[in-house]
Amino acid sequence: MKKTDLKALLDEMSLEEKVMQLVQLPGDTFGNDAAVTGLSNSGIPENVKRLAGSTLGVWGADKIKKIQKEYMDKHPHHIPLMFMLDVIHGHKTVFPCPLGLGATFEPEVAEKGAEVQAKEASADGVHVTFSPMGDLVRDARWGRVVESTGEDKFLNGKMVAAMVKGYQGDDIKDSDHVASCVKHFAAYGGAEAGRDYNNVELSEHTLREQYLPSYAEGIKAGARMVMTSFNTLNGIPSSGNKWLMRDILRKEMGFDGVLISDWAAIAEMQNWGFAETLKDASRLAMEAGVDIDMCTECYSGNLKELVESGQVNMELLDEAVMRVLELKNDLGLFEDPYHGASEEKSRKVSLTPESREAARDAVRKSLVLLKNKREALPLKVSKIAFIGPYADEKEMRSSWAISSDSSTAVTIKEAAQKRYEKSDVKVKFAKGCEMLDNNTELGFFTFKKDDLDNENNKLLSQALEVAEWADEVVLCLGEHFSQSGESTSRVNLSLSDAQMRLFEEVRKKGKKITTLIFTGRPLVLDDIEAKSDALMICFRPGTEGGNGILDVISGDYSPSGKLPMSFPYCVGQEPIHYDRYNTGRPKPTEGATIFTSRYLDCPNEPKFCFGYGLTYSDFTVSAVSLSKDKLTKGDEIKASVTVKNTGKVTATEVVQLYIRDMFGSRVRPLRELKGFEKVELKAGESKTVEFGITEDMLRFFTINNVFESEKGKFIAFIGFDSETDNGIEFELV
Ligand code: GLC
Repeated sequence: MKKTDLKALLDEMSLEEKVMQLVQLPGDTFGNDAAVTGLSNSGIPENVKRLAGSTLGVWGADKIKKIQKEYMDKHPHHIPLMFMLDVIHGHKTVFPCPLGLGATFEPEVAEKGAEVQAKEASADGVHVTFSPMGDLVRDARWGRVVESTGEDKFLNGKMVAAMVKGYQGDDIKDSDHVASCVKHFAAYGGAEAGRDYNNVELSEHTLREQYLPSYAEGIKAGARMVMTSFNTLNGIPSSGNKWLMRDILRKEMGFDGVLISDWAAIAEMQNWGFAETLKDASRLAMEAGVDIDMCTECYSGNLKELVESGQVNMELLDEAVMRVLELKNDLGLFEDPYHGASEEKSRKVSLTPESREAARDAVRKSLVLLKNKREALPLKVSKIAFIGPYADEKEMRSSWAISSDSSTAVTIKEAAQKRYEKSDVKVKFAKGCEMLDNNTELGFFTFKKDDLDNENNKLLSQALEVAEWADEVVLCLGEHFSQSGESTSRVNLSLSDAQMRLFEEVRKKGKKITTLIFTGRPLVLDDIEAKSDALMICFRPGTEGGNGILDVISGDYSPSGKLPMSFPYCVGQEPIHYDRYNTGRPKPTEGATIFTSRYLDCPNEPKFCFGYGLTYSDFTVSAVSLSKDKLTKGDEIKASVTVKNTGKVTATEVVQLYIRDMFGSRVRPLRELKGFEKVELKAGESKTVEFGITEDMLRFFTINNVFESEKGKFIAFIGFDSETDNGIEFELV
């Protein structure tokens, strides 16, 4: 529809119709088997059902087409309903969770995943996905780190932009693409104490330097929607934060798309004590520029009266409604309310060999090898035992893969049997124990099994028999898929007691041990690491988990993943991140540490740092050389190293550029990631890797409260993780 026609439509709409365009209803309003990912509402008034502008949590082409037809027939102006869904890392083909995608250090992999997900979801009738999450995360106690690409703003920015492009393509009218929604604006990952929905206290410079950039990259990439976050930012709930939404998001970042609240976030301003009534909350949200109220009766129950009484002016309402209508128009819904969806298309494009191969490639690249001694990996022995709750577990998704079916996943056991069936390698499997201990609190239930001890004893003895038989054991351990995700904050980041017992008992057999960890967050793995010969993080690998993991542990592919988040020695270190400050009393690496910034009972550094990960080969990096050591504005320094594969096999390293600003009008982090490049080299091969350093890369939020660079000394580090000391000084003059 032409813009002028859209304006004409707006002018024809009644006040009630306009208000209801800003209302989103839970999917079960329209179909009882919709996924309800938040507090569901029942007893929704008929006029709201008839006029609401959008819904969420529904998928399935025929179901959606039926709902759409009935809805539009009843709507006075036949305006199409918009269907939204959380397609976070998979609709039918589930890719590694975003934290695993971050570990690939390959935005193209994230883009490809988003493309596959968009095609599958759009064929199923979905118009908008509530993804990508741009939240920077530094606290592993927060269960939603699983949905983020990690602790670094530069890496997150690249990943978020790539996913927006993958979801949206060049034109969201195209029926293989959907509109994307960058969330949760803003700084949800900074929740106090790692507890979900909590307050966030941030200085403006930390907010601007660390937490906002990845959202900005998503908006620059053209994201059509942004979602408000549940948290308060320095005492102001995001859904009522005019400064954050109008000054930062719309004016500074230039976002002109639709701003949707998170589920019930407008109403929850009452719980926060920020709004006295739901009417106040509605007014505050409208003033902040929140266009859509997700799943409460705030807008539907108060906005009409607020406008009629002049507490909210009609212009604000018209602006919001026009943004919603424009999104529907840009999706082509006025011409094709079904956006090309059909059951036949869904069957044709879902879980295809190509999408499975793309997912399998993503799994391979997401795996992070943290230790490999006694040549435990790749597996070379003739009798392998796969033991543990993940040895034959289909559920390798994150808890945010609601529209997929874990039965389509390939388990470790299935992949191993297939891989070794025509070889003289023998494989055996044993569960070893239940994944969880009794009374483990999960998202929607508490795990409890009456005869759990007997069950575990039985499973353990079977496992020990298999371990006795094997030459090498692959332990497949990890957290339950419901132990990370929304509202799953934890203060204990260890594996269950049953799994630790299994680990210890199997270890007594004295065989080589490779431990695979399935997790949505960093865990405390001190003991596991010390007593495993090899240790690999598999995150939540999704549909092709078994195949991707076997491709790597069998040696067909070398691992290349790098940690997107620091793994601590203990939970007491959280939040922990690599771009920390030196402090006035830095703890020396040797000698006395009294009266320095330290713990008495734990190192300051994480056990495994951001950017760390091994391959099956060995790499060296030369000293950094610079094209010159003085940089002026508008100029560029070339920083280069020679990387050499000194090992015996082809492998891929991730060469990382970090820069430290030695002095500033605000203290500066010890280093910040400014570039990365993946390099695949054959045994013995070398390559020169070059990074350009320009003045804009050195800008930060200075004491003048603007982003600018300051002259002075810097160090450029180039290496294979965030603790590299391979650096060289240069100066900005
Ligand atoms: C949830 C989540 C948000 C999700 C929304 C819709 O509460 O916070 O990430 O997109 O509701 O399901």
